Amino acid sequence: MSKRVHKVFSEVAHQYELVNHALTFGLDIPWRRRAAQVAASGGGTLWLEVCSGTGEMAVNLKKLAASETKIVVSDFSMAMVSKASEKGELDTATISLADSQQLPFPDNTFDLVVISFATRNITLTRTKLKMFLCEFYRVLKPGGRFINLETSQPSSTPIRIALHLYTKQVVKLVGRIISGSKTGYAYLAHTISRFINAEELSEILYESGFSSVNYIKMTFGVVAIHRAVK
Ligand SMILES: C[S@@+](CC[C@H](N)C(=O)[O-])C[C@H]1O[C@@H](n2cnc3c(N)ncnc32)[C@H](O)[C@@H]1O
Repeated sequence: MSKRVHKVFSEVAHQYELVNHALTFGLDIPWRRRAAQVAASGGGTLWLEVCSGTGEMAVNLKKLAASETKIVVSDFSMAMVSKASEKGELDTATISLADSQQLPFPDNTFDLVVISFATRNITLTRTKLKMFLCEFYRVLKPGGRFINLETSQPSSTPIRIALHLYTKQVVKLVGRIISGSKTGYAYLAHTISRFINAEELSEILYESGFSSVNYIKMTFGVVAIHRAVK
């Protein structure tokens, strides 16, 4: 799975932000901003963003971080990491090429770990998802926060059906036209309809050791922000 995911993201990196803005009608911008606000409240001096892609979420975090807060940005795709390192806003961030399943950081390091629009890509199986979440838990300090921004399953059946139809028909086609990747957006669209709902993700977070799990649904439940504490 990892090799396939790696190939998909290396293929789509060059147009990744443009495709996201187009396919979400620009809504990914306020979604990220809101998640960064939730993440930033609580402070801390060392923050980590995993599966950071081109670094859009890290830029949002940077805007809200105190001057003494250091931000580490990590992803396993060289193409994505290169895009992040081109961003002037991230010139003081540490950018690291790393697999989120085995992070190159000691236990109890970070005050905050953030992931956005990547959880459903790292794996669709409950067991593997728990392995990733346990790794995020490991690198968090006791009392540290984990923030997850991800697509979700709207509880209204008509809205859920409309979302799945949209991803099946439009995301694949528009993603392919703009990015030139035939398989990339077919895979990404497929993971949206297959991903678990917000309640199930909360359960898995508890099973992975986190406490005080809560979530905010946005845009009719199309996306959710989960917050959990180590
Ligand atoms: C859909 S993109 C999301 C990027 C960014 N977080 C955002 O909000 O736009 C998913 C990212 O996760 C990265 N990724 C997927 N699996 C990974 C893994 N096992 N380790 C590190 N990065 C991974 C991909 O390279 C890609 O950049």
